[in-house]
Amino acid sequence: NWSMDDVAERKVADIRKQVGEDRVILALSGGVDSSVVAALGARAIGRQMTCVFINHGLLRKGEPEQVEEVFTTQFDVDFIHVHAEDRYAALLDGVVDPEEKRRIIGTQFWKEFFAVATELEHDGRPVRFLAQGTIYPDIIESGARKTGGKASTIKSHHNLIPFPEGVHFDLIEPLDHFFKDEVRALGRELGLPEHIVYRQPFPGPGLAIRIIGAVSPEKLEILREADAIVREELDAHNKRVFRQTGERSGAGSVWQYFAVLPDIKSVGVMGDERTYARPIILRAVESSDAMTADWAKLPYEVLGRISSRIVAEVPGVNRVAYDITSKPPATIEWE
Ligand code: XMP
Repeated sequence: NWSMDDVAERKVADIRKQVGEDRVILALSGGVDSSVVAALGARAIGRQMTCVFINHGLLRKGEPEQVEEVFTTQFDVDFIHVHAEDRYAALLDGVVDPEEKRRIIGTQFWKEFFAVATELEHDGRPVRFLAQGTIYPDIIESGARKTGGKASTIKSHHNLIPFPEGVHFDLIEPLDHFFKDEVRALGRELGLPEHIVYRQPFPGPGLAIRIIGAVSPEKLEILREADAIVREELDAHNKRVFRQTGERSGAGSVWQYFAVLPDIKSVGVMGDERTYARPIILRAVESSDAMTADWAKLPYEVLGRISSRIVAEVPGVNRVAYDITSKPPATIEWE
């Protein structure tokens, strides 16, 4: 696509000009937006940019490994993998309230991030710029938030940074005029892999808000395995739909899909043994902007396969339920 090629080149030139010889830091989540900024930065300024990937231990199966692989072997940036899993586990221990989880996770995120910035400073590599994957809809949304907009008062998102006192960065926001589909096109142009370019939305607080009630290592393990099966089967379902319709979105394809682990157990039977184990709730919705969503009318055979696989393959699960509620009145996530 010639126009995206131009856009990429222009953005690269802009970044070079703005940054000069200085250092840039980026909080790399593995999502589309921050990954595109990282890829642009790699092309523009290479190792002058430090990408900080904070692993809070709440990502999906295989994700930390994938992010590390892409930004250590495919793109030439200074990549730092912060293993914060244990610190997060300790902070979240026993925490049940969803907003409390979000607050803890968001606050710790920036603590971890600024700790890296401080280390770079001590290392004689002071950071002048903070790059961010802010896109145009984020700006609209945060405007709505400031004026008391309703969407953001339902759940707090932590995309806006509370800088600690005395900390200052100049911002680089190369995507602030872009819509999501343009960001994806740019990501493709820059050579990012499909699994990043077409990654479905995933909340910053990660699996913590898909485990209803307190988070524990045992529950995380169950949810991760069940979620991997959901994604595998629904990725395959989407591929079949795309092949039929010849396009990457639209009727019949699912937009966001994942597993939820509620805080209950139920009775089941396996062989001639009674089981008392956890259910998994499947959530799959069609949407274009997450403001409203319809529960996906998935084929029974897809639902059936997901259910049989989860109970057969994930120890500790004996039941699968499907959430058939749209948004509104429900939200997409359960917390
Ligand atoms: P809800 O559950 O409010 O979600 O219908 C709408 C969209 O936002 C995502 N979501 C979040 N994203 N931090 C995020 O970065 C959060 O705390 C958060 N909560 C929900 C959700 O996955 C859906 O795409």
